Amino acid sequence: METRRIGVLTGGGDCAGLNSAIKWVVKTALDDRLRKTRKIQYEIVGIRDGWKGLVLPDGDEGDPTPRISTLTEEMVRTWDRYGGTMLGTSRTNPYDPKNNQSGITIENIKRYRLDYLVAIGGEDTLGVAHKLYLDGLKVVGIPKTIDKDLSGTDYTLGFETAVNVITEEIDRLRTTAGSHRRIFVVETMGRHAGWLALEGGESSGAYIILIPEYNFELERVNELLMEGRRKGARYEIIVAAEGAKAAGHSEVIREEGVDSFGHKILGGIGEFLAKWISQLAKIETRSITLSHLQRGGVPSAYDRRMGRYFGIAAIDLIVQEDFGKMVSYQSGRITAVPLREAIGKLNLVNVQTQYDTERYNGRRTILG
Ligand code: F6P
Repeated sequence: METRRIGVLTGGGDCAGLNSAIKWVVKTALDDRLRKTRKIQYEIVGIRDGWKGLVLPDGDEGDPTPRISTLTEEMVRTWDRYGGTMLGTSRTNPYDPKNNQSGITIENIKRYRLDYLVAIGGEDTLGVAHKLYLDGLKVVGIPKTIDKDLSGTDYTLGFETAVNVITEEIDRLRTTAGSHRRIFVVETMGRHAGWLALEGGESSGAYIILIPEYNFELERVNELLMEGRRKGARYEIIVAAEGAKAAGHSEVIREEGVDSFGHKILGGIGEFLAKWISQLAKIETRSITLSHLQRGGVPSAYDRRMGRYFGIAAIDLIVQEDFGKMVSYQSGRITAVPLREAIGKLNLVNVQTQYDTERYNGRRTILG
């Protein structure tokens, strides 16, 4: 029986659910029962550290261990229970205009006889997957990002676990906020899309939610806080996405410069707001940045299940020889969309239908 090799990698920021997707890619590709009907035998190799594993497959000075090795069913058996990615990840961009390494990447794919690639990632990782596909490689993608900002899918791995972290942390903050009658600003991730802040804020019952899709007025934030206190609130929780901006201001950045995919390094909106509110509202205000905690911990049941469904569907695409696609979840069904569609534009919060621009909070109604 003919044997073909599938390489699987995870790229970009890690998140919960990646290991489940890897496990089910491996299990589905190696499934003995399916092998007979497919009349083809697959071998699966794990590529460590995202695209770096294909740029430097033999390791490098800092880490001399080879980055490409065979995965077996026994190896991945328990992986779905764990957070992060057992394959490691990086933000290496083989098509970085300042240091284009796509030639060597393609050479290495051939040298390691990788007939197919499964790339698990967000807009950056899948953007590279799409370019490789245009360069003639047989690539499929699986969506993951806690920001949930990929188009063509209603779900991206890691989001639900991150929302659970936000909800749990805010539950913890409430007791201390109430005891001290303080305002707490909770900064979440979300560079361009406010999904984490919006759905994390909705799940935890935050009083104010600030998202990148709608520039807020500082005065209005103050008015809402005053109104809350007049109505007898002892404390308020404000959730702000890292990419949220006050009208007339730009995003708050943590560091100058951009990463290899050209993204600004954001961070600090929580602290900015806390200082500003303390001065204007004269109420003690503290900020907390949830940062990478949102990526951590045990994957939620939902992320484990979605990782499973996406992993199976990615191999289904390979079996059908249907490349250049990303598996996706749309209207309750697992399906697939062209990678081009997934990375073409970001999936942002619809301010008109999902956000209350007066109360700076979520808005869900079936009324017009
Ligand atoms: O993956 C996207 C993201 O979660 C952004 O919301 C955030 O700005 C970024 O990752 C942070 O990534 P890093 O791990 O490189 O600090």
